[in-house]
Amino acid sequence: MLLEGKKGLVLNVTNKHSIGWAVAEAANRHGARVGVGAQNEKLKGKVEELIEGRPNFDTFMVDFAFDDQLEALRDEVAAKYGMVDFVIHSAAYAKREDLAGRFIETSRDGFQLAMDVSAYSLVALCRALEPVIADDASVMAMSYLGSTRAVPGYNVMGVAKAALESSVRYLAGDLGVRGIRVNTVSPGPINTVAARGVRGLTEMIETVHERSPLKRPFGQEEVAGTCVYLISDLSRGVTGQIVFVDDGYNTIGI
Ligand SMILES: NC(=O)c1ccc[n+]([C@@H]2O[C@H](COP(=O)([O-])OP(=O)(O)OC[C@H]3O[C@@H](n4cnc5c(N)ncnc54)[C@H](O)[C@@H]3O)[C@@H](O)[C@H]2O)c1
Repeated sequence: MLLEGKKGLVLNVTNKHSIGWAVAEAANRHGARVGVGAQNEKLKGKVEELIEGRPNFDTFMVDFAFDDQLEALRDEVAAKYGMVDFVIHSAAYAKREDLAGRFIETSRDGFQLAMDVSAYSLVALCRALEPVIADDASVMAMSYLGSTRAVPGYNVMGVAKAALESSVRYLAGDLGVRGIRVNTVSPGPINTVAARGVRGLTEMIETVHERSPLKRPFGQEEVAGTCVYLISDLSRGVTGQIVFVDDGYNTIGI
């Protein structure tokens, strides 16, 4: 029960395979009250099915592309929770065609869209929620190794993840004065709806599992465990970091 008495948000969840859902469940198991986000009404219905009959869960709705929705989220969180002890940004989007072809073909609006939804959204989210984020809280975002390596098929999303990781470091500086920590968790490839937008996902997963130092499958549960640690007071000295959850794949050469 590492998170007894804590309240927080996991934004967003699509289905039971979402990394965010594993994080929400693990945080809940550790005693936290968890607000689970959905991007729209339809997905909110799915999230409501996931949490049905389970104590200490709530649903919220937010599309990161709209500032008025971020403000409405803040007001709803203030009314329901008062303050929150953790905020987990677990969302990304790029046009399918910008992941399929050559990176050089990325359109201007596709580039802007990926950056807006997948990177700037963390800045906008933190600004909107700042008044309801408690001192010493923990903020986290999900990144991927494609931020610093050219991973075939990851394309514009890699550029967006680089911006996300950099934003985490600047946010850690801004919010650190209140003891609020901001970190990135960087999972290896896991089969989810978002990941299926990346060409060759199955081969990627197999390669990483075969070649990584730990040489075994990992998934949502491994990411969730690291998130519980990063939410908990055990990680109170950790901020501005990228924590890889990929069986060590990022550390090898060939
Ligand atoms: N699955 C992987 O292999 C993997 C690896 C590294 C990082 N990640 C990251 O983990 C996070 C969660 O992805 P996932 O793999 O669980 O997939 P997922 O499809 O289950 O979750 C992605 C979520 O992003 C949300 N989203 C998309 N556009 C949005 C918008 N405009 N506003 C608000 N929410 C929006 C979707 O509604 C969805 O709930 C993402 O940031 C993803 O890039 C995933």
